[in-house]
Amino acid sequence: MKRLVFLCSLALVAGMSSLATANAEDLSDWKLPPVPVPADNPQSKAKIALGHQLTFDPRLSKNNSISCAGCHLPFAGGGGHTPRAFGHGGELGRWAPSWVNAAYYTSLFWDGRAASLEEQTGALVGHMGPISAPGEMGGDVKAIVKSLKAIPAYNKAFKKAFGKQGVTRVNIAKAIAAYERTLIARNSPFQRYVNGDKKALSAAAKRGFELFQNKAQCIACHTPPLLTDNYFHNIGVPQVGPLKEDVGRYAVSHDKDDIGAFKTPSLYNSASFTFSMHDGAFSTMKQVIDHYNQGGDAKNAHQSDLIVPLHLTGKETSDLISFMKSLTDVKLNHIHRPPLP
Ligand code: HEC
Ligand code: HEC
Repeated sequence: MKRLVFLCSLALVAGMSSLATANAEDLSDWKLPPVPVPADNPQSKAKIALGHQLTFDPRLSKNNSISCAGCHLPFAGGGGHTPRAFGHGGELGRWAPSWVNAAYYTSLFWDGRAASLEEQTGALVGHMGPISAPGEMGGDVKAIVKSLKAIPAYNKAFKKAFGKQGVTRVNIAKAIAAYERTLIARNSPFQRYVNGDKKALSAAAKRGFELFQNKAQCIACHTPPLLTDNYFHNIGVPQVGPLKEDVGRYAVSHDKDDIGAFKTPSLYNSASFTFSMHDGAFSTMKQVIDHYNQGGDAKNAHQSDLIVPLHLTGKETSDLISFMKSLTDVKLNHIHRPPLP
């Protein structure tokens, strides 16, 4: 009898807590905020359309050979299609991360060495980035400005987007950044769920969302609403590829705590990437979850204390994978190549 009372009260408590969760189904913390837009580069249709073209145009590189989209695969979530990217210098040390939701990052690159999307392009004076980096697109930006000016349709498009200034290094950077600010995973099932469509997530994905926040502790770094804390952690990813060691954030901060720490990626569309992590060490979501589940690499002296064995069962792993898949906005896996002038 006592036992029954105990069970009943437990049921009551459980009932209450599920009521509490039902009431607490306020998911507004997970809603993606408006994209931050710098005051000196307001969005416009003309600018975005031009940025879209520039992103696909190999004429921004040495020998007209590589475009941004050549490394950031437009049909695989904008991530690289080889574990490490290949540029004019051959194989680089890092995997090309996705540009999906990159507009929310407070710093760019795996080590956060660029402060804005404009700066990241490498078109601005004094800032190395893909366009100008000899190992990537290897472009001579001055010469690129000249050659774009010589293409009447580009000349016109730059004037439409930027007025009299037309083609300049700064405007190349601004147009590309404006385009990147449109690559936001707003229509992923998870975002639809957050915005009130309760049917947008499967039961498995809902269980995965619960695991993400509790038992699996992903939320410790992949914080809402962006699923990144915009911070750097060493999560014990095995070092693969041509580099013997990649010190990551340490190269920027010179803080020993940052050895092997990389920027927390926003996870949107990550279930469609061909590879993941700074060096492309993993090629499936299962490998990623298994890595976290085993507590990363216990032998890595610099690994974050937040990475510990998770004791997830096989079913929990697959539920978590279902949740990760719900972060995919399929539109961002079908970015078309616009006609180029
Ligand atoms: C040769 C291959 C290659 C090309 C071409 C290339 N990228 Fe990348 N991209 C990379 C790699 C590799 C990284 C990561 C480098 C690092 O972190 O040190 C990266 C990083 C980025 C990031 C940072 C994302 C983040 O998570 O911080 C953005 C944004 C980006 N690229 C956009 C572009 C744009 C725009 C272009 C064209 C102007 C371009 N990329 C051309 C390989 C490439
Ligand atoms: C201690 C902070 C931290 C925790 C906890 C954490 N992550 Fe990460 N996550 C990161 C960092 C940092 C990276 C990039 C690491 C690198 O490249 O070396 C990353 C990378 C990833 C990637 C690869 C994405 C890409 O663009 O390459 C996925 C997927 C991922 N995490 C999912 C998860 C899941 C699922 C969990 C919970 C089981 C989790 N993370 C827990 C910080 C964390």
